[in-house]
This record gives sequence, C-alpha cells and structure tokens, in this order.
Amino acid sequence: MDFAYKILVALHLLGMAAVVGGWIAVRAGHVVTPVVVWGARAQIVTGLLLVGLAEAIKDDAHEVNNAKIAVKLVIALVVAGAAEIGAARGRRGEDGSTQLDVAGGAGLVNVLVATLW
Ligand code: HEM
Repeated sequence: MDFAYKILVALHLLGMAAVVGGWIAVRAGHVVTPVVVWGARAQIVTGLLLVGLAEAIKDDAHEVNNAKIAVKLVIALVVAGAAEIGAARGRRGEDGSTQLDVAGGAGLVNVLVATLW
C-alpha cells in the first residue's frame, strides 16, 4: 500500500510539473496546450486518490489535513476550469493567455500551499 502511495505521489508531482512547467514553457504562445489540461485533471484524480490511500493507511506518516486538502481542491478546480476554458478558446483560434496565466499561477499557488502550510 505504501508503494502505491509513493507511486501516486510521483504521478502527483508529474501532474504539477505539467501544469507549472507547461505554463512556463508556452507562456509566449498564448495557448493552453493539452499537457496543461491533462496535468490539471491528473492533479485532481491523483490528489483525491492520495487522500483516500492516506486515510486507509492511517499512520503518523500519512496524516491528512482536511482544511489544507479542501483549499487545494478548490484551487485545483480553478486550475482545471481555467485550463479547459483556455484550451477551448485556443481550439476556436481565440487568445487563451488569461486562462493560461490563471491556470499556471493557481498551480503555483497550490505548490506553495502544499509545501508551506
Ligand atoms: C494544481 C493542483 C495541485 C498541485 C500543484 C499540487 C502540488 C502538490 C505538491 C508539490 C505536493 C508535494 C508536497 C510535499 O511533499 O511537501 C503535493 C502533495 C499532496 N497533495 Fe497536492 N497538488 C494539487 C492538487 C491536489 C488535490 C486536488 C489534492 C486532494 C484533493 C491534493 C492532495 C495532496 C496530498 C494528499 C499530498 C501529500 C502527498 C505526501 O504524502 O507527501 N493535491 N501536492
């Protein structure tokens, strides 16, 4: 179970890299790429699975801070919503740079919530 948890943490960090790294990489192009959208979706899925596994393992190394998780979930929904809207705008040939910045910036905020709280 702990191995599965560690694999999920790895996937969670890769999703974070896709959102924040994708934002930095494509900032000049004003478009939300599929990498950012899939990273945003992956964060919600892997994050919720991490909480579920942590609750199942229930030892001192896997404590769940529910207030922090609630804040992260709301911010992650902002990331995913902005990424989906920005990508849709891009498919219509419209500028998605505001949504890209909201998705990347909120993703960065979630990294800070994850590490500093
Ligand atoms: C854009 C969205 C998100 C980003 C950028 C993000 C980022 C991170 C980062 C960088 C860590 C590692 C922190 C550390 O080890 O000190 C982490 C851990 C964690 N995240 Fe997220 N997260 C996001 C969304 C979520 C969501 C939606 C949930 C749950 C609903 C969640 C649950 C968790 C949990 C349980 C851990 C602890 C893993 C461990 O045991 O170290 N995250 N997150």
